[in-house]
Amino acid sequence: MLEVLHISAECYPAAKAGGLGDVVGALPKYLNQAGVNTGVIMPKYKLKWIESQSYIEVGRGMVRLDKVQVPFYVHQVMSVDLGFPLFMIDIPGLFDRNGIYTDNDTKQSYPDDVERYLVFQQAVLHWLNGWHEKPRVLHCHDHHTGLIPFMVKHCPEFASLAQIKTIFTIHNGVYHGAFRWSNAHLLPWFDAYAAPLLDWNNTINPLACAIKCCWKLTTVSPGYMQELMTDSNGLEGLISSEWRKAKGIINGIDNTVWNPMTDPMLPYNLSDSIEDYKKHNRSQILQRFNLQADLPIVTFIGRLVGEKGADILPQAIRNLLYSGQRMNFLLLGTGERHLMDMIQGLKHEFPGLVDCMLGYDETLSHLLYAGSDFLIMPSRVEPCGLNQLYALRYGTIPIVRKIGGLNDTVKDIDSPEGGVGIQFTNLNAEDCAYALYRANRIYENKQLMSDIRAYIMSIDHSWEVSVQAYIQVYN
Ligand code: ADP
Ligand code: GLC
Repeated sequence: MLEVLHISAECYPAAKAGGLGDVVGALPKYLNQAGVNTGVIMPKYKLKWIESQSYIEVGRGMVRLDKVQVPFYVHQVMSVDLGFPLFMIDIPGLFDRNGIYTDNDTKQSYPDDVERYLVFQQAVLHWLNGWHEKPRVLHCHDHHTGLIPFMVKHCPEFASLAQIKTIFTIHNGVYHGAFRWSNAHLLPWFDAYAAPLLDWNNTINPLACAIKCCWKLTTVSPGYMQELMTDSNGLEGLISSEWRKAKGIINGIDNTVWNPMTDPMLPYNLSDSIEDYKKHNRSQILQRFNLQADLPIVTFIGRLVGEKGADILPQAIRNLLYSGQRMNFLLLGTGERHLMDMIQGLKHEFPGLVDCMLGYDETLSHLLYAGSDFLIMPSRVEPCGLNQLYALRYGTIPIVRKIGGLNDTVKDIDSPEGGVGIQFTNLNAEDCAYALYRANRIYENKQLMSDIRAYIMSIDHSWEVSVQAYIQVYN
C-alpha cells in the first residue's frame, strides 16, 4: 500500500525543466529507502524518455470540464527501476505534447494551462477515489497541484478522500497559477461556503489556496521560508499567518545520479586524483568551446529568466573584463529571448573569453559541473538551488548571491566560520563583478584551489538528512 503519493508536473528522468524535476525524481526514492512507501504521479507528456518506456494501464476515467467529458488513462511505468512506482496520467489533447510548460519547437507557453492542470488534478483524484486502500498523505508540489488540498476537502465528488492529509511544497513562489473567476465553471462542484478559500485578490489563486487548505506547508530551504513571509508576490500576509504549519527543509541531491565517480554522462570519472579528473573534463570543455586554456572557467547553468539574475550577468562580465581581469565565461541556458540575444551579443563582444550553448542539454550540464572552476549564480530569488550543490559535489566553487537556499548552503570562504564559496549581497553588476574578481584571486593560488576542491567535494549533501525532516512532517 502506498503511504505517500507525490503529485507533480515534473519528475526526473521522465520530465525535467529544472530543480522541481530533480527533487521529485529523488525524494521519493530516498523515502522508500527510509521505509516510507512512496509513489509519484505526473502528467504523461510526449517526451523522449516517456515515449521510450513500457506501461501497464492501471486506471481510466472521465473528468468533467464544463460541459465536456475529458477521458484520461493512468499508466504505470513498467520497465525501469526508479526506486519508486511512477504513474502517469495520459490525457489526450491536453498533455500529449512535446514540452512540459512550453512547446519545444515554437518555445511558446501553452495557452490552455488552466484547463490542463484542472483536468490533471481531478484525474488524479478520480483515480484515487476508486482505490480500496488510500494513501495516507498526498504530497503536492507547486501551483500545478495547488487545488488538490481544496478539492479533497470541499468537492463532494472526492468526499472519499477528505480524510487524507495534504502536504504542499513551494518550490517557486513566483508563479501562482492564478486565473479569473469567470473560469470557475471549469472546476468540479464545490461547497459554496468554501469559495473564499479559492480566492486571492479577486482571482482563483491555486498557490494561495494550497497554502490555506494544506495540512502542512513546506518550502525548499529555511531561508526561503523566511523570505516568503516578507516577499512572495503578494502572499506575505497569508504565509506569515500560516507559520504554525510551515517549515523550510533544504533539498538534497541524488548521490546516485550526481556522483563524479560513476556519472555515465562524464567523459572522465573521478578515481584517485581530483586533479586528473578536473583536468580531463576541463580539456573536454576547452575542445568544445572557444575559451582560453590558461584562464579560469566560470560557468552559468540555468533558466534564462529574471529570477536567476541572468539579466545582470552580462554587465557584470563586461565590467570585469573591461577592468583588465581575464577569465573565461561559459553560459548554458534557455529562456527569455532578450536574455538569449544579450548573451549571443556578449559572445561576439569577447570572442575567446565568452561562449555559450543556448538550449537545454542535460549531458553537457554534467560536464560543466565537472570541468569548470567556478559556477556563478547571481539569483534574484532562489528557493533552494541545486546547481550549487552539484557544483560542490563535482569540485567547482560556487559564486552565489546571498539569498534563500544559496545563503543556507554556500557560506563565504572568508567568513569567520569558514565556507565553501564566494557570496555577494547586492543584486547589481558591480557586486557580482567584485565576487568574480575574488574568484580570480583564488584561482591564482593553485594550492588553495586544490584544497578548496578537496574540501567541498567531501561535504555530504545527500537526501538522507532532509528525508528525516519530511518524515517528521508526515508524522
Ligand atoms: P530551478 O529549478 O529554479 O531552475 P535549480 O537550481 O533548483 O533551479 O535546478 C536547476 C536544474 O536544472 C539543475 O539540475 C540544472 O543543472 C538544470 N538545468 C537548468 N538549465 C539547464 C540547461 N539549459 N541545460 C541542462 N540542465 C539545466
Ligand atoms: C525551484 C527553485 C529552485 C529549487 C527547485 C527545487 O525551481 O527555483 O531554487 O532548487 O525548485 O526545489
